[in-house]
Amino acid sequence: MRSTALAIIRDEHRVLSAMLQSMSLLLRQCRAARQPPDFRLLRTMLFYVDEYPNRLHHPKEEALLFPRVRRECPDLAEVLDQLSDDHQQGERSMHQLEHALLAYEVMGDERRAAFEQALDRYTAFYLRHMMLEERHVLRAAEERFSPEDWAELDEAFAGNRDPFTGHEPEEPFRPLYQHILASLPDPLGYKRSA
Ligand SMILES: [Fe+2]
Ligand SMILES: [Fe+2]
Repeated sequence: MRSTALAIIRDEHRVLSAMLQSMSLLLRQCRAARQPPDFRLLRTMLFYVDEYPNRLHHPKEEALLFPRVRRECPDLAEVLDQLSDDHQQGERSMHQLEHALLAYEVMGDERRAAFEQALDRYTAFYLRHMMLEERHVLRAAEERFSPEDWAELDEAFAGNRDPFTGHEPEEPFRPLYQHILASLPDPLGYKRSA
């Protein structure tokens, strides 16, 4: 069945993936031009990744989606354990990444490679995480959930929408959202709504 919650999860995955990959693109462009990156923009983007996916997207998966999938599909227990571990690991990795960015900003070029490598690791880690969710968890949910399950999930996921998925940002996030939109390089493609 068509579900708002599933569409939201997939949209949020797409945005997280675009945000992380655009950070790498930004760094590559700056390296090629032998110029320092816009550190404020990088900090803002990392803040976004921490704020929306880590504090809103993953907790909703943990609280609402995973328990239902666990109940309906016992054979996915191992995958669900792995994905929950990833959510916790993601928070620790985010702290390391933020520190690596600060080190690059404060210490200069000698810390550039360490930040770029940390970002690459974080990006690869999250892309794999989202791929596992889509391949196993979302697919199982699509096959097994009842209309009542979906009604509840749809309502919960429709709150706190990620503004980068094309929804009006909530007031406290509007300046952050506009700053990122105005500064992102092509080919991110979100400038249309700036
Ligand atoms: Fe997740
Ligand atoms: Fe997810």
